[in-house]
Amino acid sequence: MTDKELMLAAEEARKCSYSPYSGFAVGAALLADSGKVYTGCNIENASFSPTVCAERVAFFSAVNAGERAFKRIAVVGGKANEKPQPLCTPCGVCRQVMSEFCGKDFKIILGNSENFEVYTLEDLLPFGFDLN
Ligand code: THU
Repeated sequence: MTDKELMLAAEEARKCSYSPYSGFAVGAALLADSGKVYTGCNIENASFSPTVCAERVAFFSAVNAGERAFKRIAVVGGKANEKPQPLCTPCGVCRQVMSEFCGKDFKIILGNSENFEVYTLEDLLPFGFDLN
């Protein structure tokens, strides 16, 4: 599974985005150590706070399937029904969820399938919260 293939899976997941309130559609594709890919889209709610980001849908889906170790995640987002924006960066809550299961070198692929950049979790979440 290449970074581009993972980003293509994220773009496919983005098509399922339920985002009638923000009009902002996000897709994510998470590659587990098992080799399986878990996807997610953002799912909004009229009450707003129950909204979940695409990244967390992908992570929780994977953990619910018994996964605990992950290699990479691709994230793509932008206004619904438009081309993705050049860089849709994960929110702070999603970065903290990533840090629960992933080490500093976990790769976060941002952009779209034609043009993307690869960051590490350490790049995006220095000094994340930890009980230790
Ligand atoms: N969103 C994500 O899916 N991932 C992020 O990391 C940031 C924001 C979603 C939540 C909401 O449905 C929409 O984008 C606008 O905030």
